[in-house]
Amino acid sequence: MWVKRDDLLHPEVSGNKFRKLKYPLLAWQDRHPTWVSMGGPWSNHLHALAHAGALGGWPTKALVRGAPGMQSATLDDCRRLGMQVSFVSRDDYRQLREDPQAWRRHLDTVDDKHVWLPEGGSSPQALRGVAELVDELPFIPEVIMVACGTGATLAGILAGLRGRSRVVGIAVLKNADYLRQEIADLLLQAGYPAYQNYELITDAHHGGYGKAPPELRQFCREFSAACDLPIEPVYTGKLFHALKKMQQAQAFGDDDRVLAIHTGGMQGARGFAEASLIPPQV
Ligand SMILES: Cc1ncc(COP(=O)(O)O)c(C=O)c1O
Repeated sequence: MWVKRDDLLHPEVSGNKFRKLKYPLLAWQDRHPTWVSMGGPWSNHLHALAHAGALGGWPTKALVRGAPGMQSATLDDCRRLGMQVSFVSRDDYRQLREDPQAWRRHLDTVDDKHVWLPEGGSSPQALRGVAELVDELPFIPEVIMVACGTGATLAGILAGLRGRSRVVGIAVLKNADYLRQEIADLLLQAGYPAYQNYELITDAHHGGYGKAPPELRQFCREFSAACDLPIEPVYTGKLFHALKKMQQAQAFGDDDRVLAIHTGGMQGARGFAEASLIPPQV
């Protein structure tokens, strides 16, 4: 078994966030963009975007699901890095997902330098950066495993593999069958073939997005200590837990080389230590 340590790509813009932001940010780097995006109070994506904005000298604005006054260590970091944070209701948040223009209604000023990034940074342009991780591998393993939230990271890996290997996506949220369509749409919109060499595991979410029952937390603690590999309950904990279950069920062939992608996200785990705060949402 192998682990691709994308969590080590950058100290702050880590894991799949680095990959997904790379080409959208590069496309605008000399055009003085103001980046606008959305996420929950513990969003890894907003955290990475705030850091990238501070590094690049670009203003950043976030529409966060929650009530005004809501606090989290993630949002504290974002504000400290200069990100302008506004809160939106659950209904408005849903609209932001469904209508790619809805964000405009939530900002006082919008000009043609304001550039929208969808939830998780999961635009079709994000796939190209993710695809590059495949070229960094010393070999093409028989199986690649990755945690799925929006499906963009999995779609990017499929793009990089160009039909090779088998990808297993672990959906971290409930009722995730719709992700198959999202993955197909992202591949199409990004100009890639409709790769099918993947499967989506939809029953390894441990109760839903951001849910971390005691057994999962314990697994994360034990795994982190035993393997000297930090994981957290929202994404990578569910990934490695599912991988262990699959191994026990002999779901892999004897000669299969299995590679798990560590997509980072350790900053989001701070939410679990702060019991007085609401759990992570996005
Ligand atoms: C640490 C981490 N791993 C995996 C994922 C899932 O990535 P995607 O939304 O591209 O499926 C996310 C969310 O974007 C994440 O923050």
